Amino acid sequence: MMRQAGRYLPEYLELLSQTDFFTVCKTPALACEITLQPYRRYPSLDSLIIFSDILVIPVAMGMDCRMEPKVGPQFDFALETPEDMEKLNLTPDVEATLSYVFDGIYWTRTQVKNEVPVIGFSGAPWTLMGYMVEGGAVRSFDRAKKWLYLYPEASRKLLAALRDIVVEYLVGQFDSGAPLLTVFDTNCGEIPPRLYEEFCVPDLKYIATEVKKRRPGALVSVFPKDGEMAVFEDSDFDVVGVSWTSSPAEARRSCPSKTLQGNLDPHLLYADPDQIRERTVQMVKEFGVPKYICNLGHGMVPTHPVEGPKAFMEGVDSVSCEDAPAPSQEEK
Ligand code: CP3
Repeated sequence: MMRQAGRYLPEYLELLSQTDFFTVCKTPALACEITLQPYRRYPSLDSLIIFSDILVIPVAMGMDCRMEPKVGPQFDFALETPEDMEKLNLTPDVEATLSYVFDGIYWTRTQVKNEVPVIGFSGAPWTLMGYMVEGGAVRSFDRAKKWLYLYPEASRKLLAALRDIVVEYLVGQFDSGAPLLTVFDTNCGEIPPRLYEEFCVPDLKYIATEVKKRRPGALVSVFPKDGEMAVFEDSDFDVVGVSWTSSPAEARRSCPSKTLQGNLDPHLLYADPDQIRERTVQMVKEFGVPKYICNLGHGMVPTHPVEGPKAFMEGVDSVSCEDAPAPSQEEK
């Protein structure tokens, strides 16, 4: 589940009450502890996503960040004009600045004795640029959108720098033991498709190609939230994430050769368990079990009841076992 370790879990709130968000991210043992919390509560979870945040990349570039309760992430400064890029290190040493994430992945994998995979992730360049230009979480990314039109060259420079960091960062996560790497482009749907294809799609395709060139065993996934999925049909991404705004049939039409991941409306998790199970089964049947990874269509939120995920997983387990094709000789 997207953001499966988070504020809807009392054990998460308890740990966070003693420290702050980015200290947890930077302390491998604490990041591991929080990554394991949902697994302890829901043992049928079949993968863990390392506890961290996409904003660790801007932090590594020199933009310090705090997680303000009820507000979200706030950087010490925003990129108001291209001149502000001089305050950044566009080529940070990824190993030196982000090894805490690599250590957290390695530590978690060791703790679960490799019984369950640990997924790594990064923000996509455009989503990271959005937060950097705005200086933190905002309702709409007006300033970041304006940058693409007003300062196209500076935007390209920033996006290219982020792209190269993302590649290094994902390779490092793979090397620490994360077999599947997800690139979250949460702000994909904020701009028109043409602009997305001009400024974002080539870099995303490059990320998939480059990571797989350097690490042929890596699996890579992209989540172009609320955007056009079809542009990724012709890419090296193995998996394309589906937002809750798409129907499974529409998603299959857009990316017929890809494995799809998604897309339960997170709000369903407020419903009674029977309804959660029924609608989950319906969703899995609509996607079909082959080439499909069951997930939410966006993240868990603080007000979600802890019972919701249990019913969701029961629904998934009932239908995926029943309908799964027999594994091929190779898979066995
Ligand atoms: O369990 C997991 O999925 C792993 C952890 C994870 C977090 N953030 C922890 C988190 C992951 C995968 C992310 C990714 C992330 N972070 C994205 C992309 C995916 C998405 O959700 O769209 C984005 C856009 C961010 C940036 C970010 N981090 C924002 C905008 C916020 C505030 C949002 C909110 O709901 O308040 C965060 C905070 C954040 N990241 C929390 C957690 C557990 C809540 C922090 C807290 O207050 O304790």
